[in-house]
Formats: sequence, C-alpha cells, structure tokens
Amino acid sequence: MTMTENLYQDSEGYISNKQVFSESFFELQIEDILGAVNQEMKLLNISEDKQLKIKELLEEIHKHNVETYMHSIRVGLLASRIGSLAQGLEQKPLLQAGLLHDYGKTTISNHLLNKKKGFNEKDYKNVQNHVLEGYKAIVSHFLFSAEIVVRHHQFNAKPYPEEIPQSEIHSKKTINKINTYSRIVALADFYDALNTRNDGKYGDKELSNEEKKGILIRENYDMIEMIAKMDEQGK
Ligand SMILES: [Fe+2]
Ligand SMILES: [Fe+2]
Repeated sequence: MTMTENLYQDSEGYISNKQVFSESFFELQIEDILGAVNQEMKLLNISEDKQLKIKELLEEIHKHNVETYMHSIRVGLLASRIGSLAQGLEQKPLLQAGLLHDYGKTTISNHLLNKKKGFNEKDYKNVQNHVLEGYKAIVSHFLFSAEIVVRHHQFNAKPYPEEIPQSEIHSKKTINKINTYSRIVALADFYDALNTRNDGKYGDKELSNEEKKGILIRENYDMIEMIAKMDEQGK
C-alpha cells in the first residue's frame, strides 16, 4: 500500500486502488466516484479556489453531455491513482488534467458526441477540436494541467492536434514531466473507453476481461510496466 493510500483510508467514501483497478470500478455509481474525487482534491491540497473552478467546469460538462461528464470523473480518479503507483509522480496535476481533459467537448454538438459510427472528415475535425478548445478554456486557471490536456491525444495511432500551442513553460525538465503526465492521462482515457464504450471499435461482441487486457497492452505497449502494476492492484 502506498503512503497516499494510507491517507485516503481514514476518509469517508474511500475507494481503494483495488477497486479502482478492477472491473467493479465501472459499475460504481458516479456519485460515489465523485465523492472519492472530492476527497482526493482535499487530500492533494488543491486550493479551495481551484476546487471550485474544477467543479464549475465539470458542471458545465455535466449540463452538456452526461456521458462525457461520467467519463471525465472516472479518468480523473484513474489518472490520479495511476500516478500513485510509480515513484516521483505528483497526483495533483494528474487528477486535474484527467478531470478536465475532455472539457473542450462542451463545444461539440450532442448530435456528434453521441454518434457511434459513420464519421466523415468534417466530424473528425470537429471532434479533434476539443483538445485545443479545452486548452484555451483552462490555460489561464490551470497552466500545467492545460499543457497535459493539450497532449492527451498525442499518443493515438494518429496523434492530434498536429501542432501544440507555444507554451509559457520552457524548462526542458518540466516539459518532460508534462509529457510523462500526458501519457498517463492518455492511458487512463484509453482504459476508461475500453471498459465503458460500446461503439463497436473492437467488434460487436462484448469483450472478455482477457480480451480487454490484450487490447490495452497491445495499444499501449510503451506503458506495459504501468499496466502490470494496475493489474496487480486490481487483484
Ligand atoms: Fe479527448
Ligand atoms: Fe476522454
């Protein structure tokens, strides 16, 4: 058990890493996950101001599209907990960036957000815009997390956006950190989609746990060690 996990345990509504990294996580009520997220924000010492801002932004996602909202809450908690599995990673930016990674989807029509197949070129362009829109909306409040948000689709088979906006951050060390954290948010994003979306991406049949694990590893091979840790925690 990690040190942060000890901290959580005394708090009400605690969701253990064991739960977070097992399939039962995706059956939990969203209120319960949100409770754990609120607790996590306090324990990671996110300031009151920032907590309020995050809640405000999440509420906007909620009003726009419930599915995106639930996905955002789960990805926030997942990214934070993945961060707890390796040394030297800060959970705070992972939680913030995870929660807000798809905020830009509030600018996409519900018609398009709910579409499962038959995308044309224009649809792809519109969906891809969510990355830059999200970045623009949060950069003045959460600079470091915004840098993560703007990179969360850089690890796709076809990464987007093609160009990352010029950053105010110039330190090479910090940029490396941003890339590491972005990779984790992307993994949490992929993991959540794999467990919750039934858009027929991997065929029409429901996938078994073994099949999901296989896909997770195949599509995120650079993260194989982290995936092994997640798997271990879920047992
Ligand atoms: Fe996204
Ligand atoms: Fe996402």
